[in-house]
This record gives sequence, C-alpha cells and structure tokens, in this order.
Amino acid sequence: MTNRRHTVAGRIPQDFIDDLIQRADIVEIIGARVNLKKAGREYKAPCPFHNEKTPSFTVSPQKGFYHCFGCGAHGTALGFLMEFDRLEFPEAVEDLAQTLGLAVPRDDSAGERTPITPIYEVLSRAAGIYSRALKEHPPAIDYLKSRGLRGETVRLFGIGYAPGGWDYLLHQFDDRQETQLNLKSAGLIAERDRGGYYDRFRERVIFPIRDSRGRVVGFGGRIIGAGEPKYLNSPETPAFHKGRELYGFFEARQANRKLENILVVEGYMDVVSLAGHGVTHVVATLGTATTPEHLRRLFRATQGIVFCFDGDRAGREAAWRALQTSLPEMRDGRQVRFLFLPDGEDPDSLVRQEGADAFTARFQETLPLSDYLFRELEQQTDMSSLDGRARLAELARPLIDLLPAGIYRELLTTRLAEIVGMGRDTLKQVMGSQPAGPRTPGRARPPRNPGIRGGRPSLVRQAIRVILNHPAACAKVRPPPELEHVEQRGITLLTELLVMVANRPTIGPAGLLERFRERPEGPHLEALLTEENLISADGAAAELIDNLEAIINSGDQQRFAALVDKFNANQLSPDEREEFRQLQQNEADQP
Ligand code: UTP
Ligand code: MN
Repeated sequence: MTNRRHTVAGRIPQDFIDDLIQRADIVEIIGARVNLKKAGREYKAPCPFHNEKTPSFTVSPQKGFYHCFGCGAHGTALGFLMEFDRLEFPEAVEDLAQTLGLAVPRDDSAGERTPITPIYEVLSRAAGIYSRALKEHPPAIDYLKSRGLRGETVRLFGIGYAPGGWDYLLHQFDDRQETQLNLKSAGLIAERDRGGYYDRFRERVIFPIRDSRGRVVGFGGRIIGAGEPKYLNSPETPAFHKGRELYGFFEARQANRKLENILVVEGYMDVVSLAGHGVTHVVATLGTATTPEHLRRLFRATQGIVFCFDGDRAGREAAWRALQTSLPEMRDGRQVRFLFLPDGEDPDSLVRQEGADAFTARFQETLPLSDYLFRELEQQTDMSSLDGRARLAELARPLIDLLPAGIYRELLTTRLAEIVGMGRDTLKQVMGSQPAGPRTPGRARPPRNPGIRGGRPSLVRQAIRVILNHPAACAKVRPPPELEHVEQRGITLLTELLVMVANRPTIGPAGLLERFRERPEGPHLEALLTEENLISADGAAAELIDNLEAIINSGDQQRFAALVDKFNANQLSPDEREEFRQLQQNEADQP
C-alpha cells in the first residue's frame, strides 16, 4: 500500500505541512470520528479522550484547533490524528495528505533514502548470533549467574554475548559490500582508518533493544568485570533512536495485558533483574534523560508512570528533569509519581536484597508529581517569610504554565495559593497575570497598560496571543527595531513569530503551532491558544501595535529605573549619561 514502513524517507518539508494544515478542514476530520454539534462559531462533543457526560470538547474551525476544557487535550488536525488514531507524526501527515489527495514530498537533501528493511534483517540475525555465542562462552554464563539471572529471564530478553576478537560478527555474514554496508548502517560494525571493518561489540554481554513491535533495533553491551565504558550502546541509526526507544517496553507489554502503571528505571540490569523477580511492568531509558516522545509512548500504554531514581544528587537532578518533561503531558487522569531509592542502591540491588514483595511495597511510598514539585520548591525558599512565599509562587508559576489547561492545573494553582497563604485572586495579582485554565466567560481582560511593576510578562504574552490567534492579520506588523533592546522573557519568541507571519502571510494558528511541534516553546504556545480570545481579526493589528509599543515603553522604563540607580550611585558612564538624558527627555514628552 505505502512504502513508509520500509524506508526512512527524508524530512517532510515544513511548507508542505503549512499547506496541509491550511487545506485540512479540522471539523470534517474530527467530525468523521466524533459526533460534533455546532455551538456558535465552534463545534462541541463529549471528549473522546476522557469519560464525560456534558461535552467540553470544542473544535474551533477558525483556529484549526481542538481543545477539551475537561481534560486539557488539545492540538491541531495532525495532533488529533496522532492521538485518536495513535499514529506517529509522519503517518498522520501521510493519512491527512491522502484524504486531501496530496502526495507527501520528501526533502531528501539531508540524507539519501536508506532502505531500512535489510537493517532490521541484519539486526535480527545478529541477535541470534550473540544469543548462540553465549552458550559457547561459559565465563559469560557465569557472569549472568553471578548477577542472579535465571536462564528463563535470559531467554525472555534474548540476552547474548559478543565474543572477543575484532571480527567475530563480521565472519558470520558474507563479505559482499552490500552486506557490510547494512551492518554498518545498523551500527554493528565500524570502519577502520586503513579500510575494512571491525565489530563494534566485543567481549560484552549483549542486551537486544526491541521496538514496540518486538523488532530488534539496537543493542546495549555490558563489559564483564571492570573497564570503560561500562555499557556500550548502538549508535543512532535509521532503526534506533535513543530518545524514542525504551528498554523492556515490548517485554513489559507482552507480560501484561493491561498496564496499570509502568516503572521507569535507569538501567538494563534493573529491568531484567526485576523481571526475573516477577516485577514485569518496568522499562529503562537508554542512558538518556526521559524525552517527551518516551512519555507519549508510555502514556499510550498506561495512565500511570512511576519514575524510579537513586536517592543521590544525580538521581534527584534526573528526577527534576523528568518532572519538567512530564508537566506538558499531564492530562487529567494521568498520574506521574516518583520513587526515591536509598542512596547507593538501584532497583536491581534492592530487589536482590529484599525480594519482590518488599520492593513492590515501596510503591506505597511514591511521591505524586505535585507533592514532589512543591516539596522541592519549599526547600529552595524560606517559607516563614512573606518574601520567601512570594518567591515560591514565582518559581512555581513557569512550571504550572507548562501544564495543559484542565482540572489538574486548577488543582495545582489552588494548592499553590494555599501553600503561599494567599487567596487565588491575590496570588494571580502577585504573579502579574492570570494563571491560564478553563476560562470563565465574560472575564475582564488584564489591564492594557500596566505600570512598570506587575504584569510586564503578560504584555509579551498578550502580544504573542494576538499573533497566534490572528497570524494573517498581523503579517503586516513589522517588529520594531527597539524591540531587540528590551530585556524580557519571551521577546525572542515574539520577534520570531513576527518574522514568521511576515514571511508566510497566509499561515493560520494551527500552521504556526505545527512549526513549533518539536520545540520546547510548543506546549506554551498551545496553552496560549486555548485561552479565550476576545480580539477580532479586524482589531488584531492595531491591538498588536499597541502592545508592542507598551512593551518597548515598559522596557524604557525598566532601563530608566536602572539608570536612575546608577546615577544615584554616581556610576554612569558617558554613554549611559547620554542615554539617561534621552530617556529623561522621552519621559517629559509623554502626555
Ligand atoms: P549505571 O552505571 O547505573 O549501571 O548505568 P547499572 O544499570 O546499575 O549497571 P550494572 O548494575 O552495574 O550492570 C545506568 C544506565 O546508564 C547507561 C546504561 O543504559 C545503563 O544501564 N550507561 C551507563 C551507559 O550507556 N554507558 C555507561 O558507560 C554507563
Ligand atoms: Mn546496577
């Protein structure tokens, strides 16, 4: 039918995605899968992503965007296809293009099309070769026994052994050039400086890494005894991406028809050792931090993720990173918890010491994401002082901003208000702008021209929101040159958006979002677009110009205040004195 499953094609050009999003009728696409009813300018339905009686799932044809006020699910037409039909991004693009009768062009300049099927074939054959070699190497078997593994577990995970020498694997394959190129693309052999090839994995216990369909996509190799590096992993290849694969995911799904939750650990040995003790709902990242892609894959299989980290500093740092990556994925109904182990222990060492029951009893002590978040922030601030509590609110704000709108976000905001001992309304004022969340209709807009303190971040936020909602109307507004001198959070993003819409005057809100799909700012922008928009397309450009002016003004005032301080301390340089004079002049000119 299609060849997308067998080739790694080049990147899909962004222009094509712009075009696709523009032509796609989101109401038609979602309407084909969900029973939509018209409600004013939007369409509504009971949310397909969570259980509910009253419909809070809304589709906006203007924005090309859907959003559920109940659970926070949201996205573009492509995002919907990915979520609802459980497709990867390129597959969703293919499907949408097919519906519209378009062929997906590929940008092949970055890398030629690599036929991928032979790579899977050599990987699978190599796994068999390593597995058979294990039987012929008693020291490797002894090593696995010394680590407490039984034959059954070794077979289940296909653990093997890569013998020494430099060409054990090479010699198991024919010496045609094509075969060698496939072995090289699969990351199994490397090229010698003088020409020819050598085995990548030598004298190592081999852990095959399988993708969600059970195909071997790469390997991890552990040295027996001491040596560097302790683990050697397959390089990134067309079949293997560390940021996507999770060790043990396939095996965990095979062992459990339903996964109530999944435990994420750090090491290969942790996964197999726990499985050997009957704890089978475990996966490991492959020597990298947890990525959003990992989380999305996990959340397709379960509603609950438990991150398991060492109690040491490195473990806590990794846990905090995992928390930040999790926030944008925290849709209602999903749970993320943290399990901290005693310093110096890992899941493998613990389960071997205390047994499976005692280990699983530790699940009672896991820390919900919200508890962990506030516990960490409280440790960074002096909660006995007013300043300290205000600081906590400041630290929490950008984190809460990462959460999709929904009940969970509301709960966290309320909890923050309790912790800092303020009412929700006071908290919102202190934090400068209103925490987003399900909007109550008819709420007043934030003040247009807030003073130098309070609300400054919200000016940039407002400007970005106008562009997001009305990109076409804003296409003629050029970024004023003074803007780059303003030092405020979000200015770079604001400028980038202005340039983006100027270059593509026909782009819509959803098209803009698609351009940020793989960027960290993406979730922020999506959250902004879910906020209520009271500005019409007609008024958008004027509103934006006002906004930009106010930003520059507030930047001037900020700079002016800094110069006043220096002036008082008698520290103005000649240049700064001139700037100060200019700004004083401007101040005087203001009505
Ligand atoms: P650890 O150093 O914690 O080892 O690495 P471990 O999992 O406890 O292994 P054992 O028990 O000593 O055998 C955790 C993970 O980090 C990656 C591997 O994925 C490993 O499982 N790692 C570690 C590497 O990729 N390379 C290394 O050199 C070390
Ligand atoms: Mn270990």
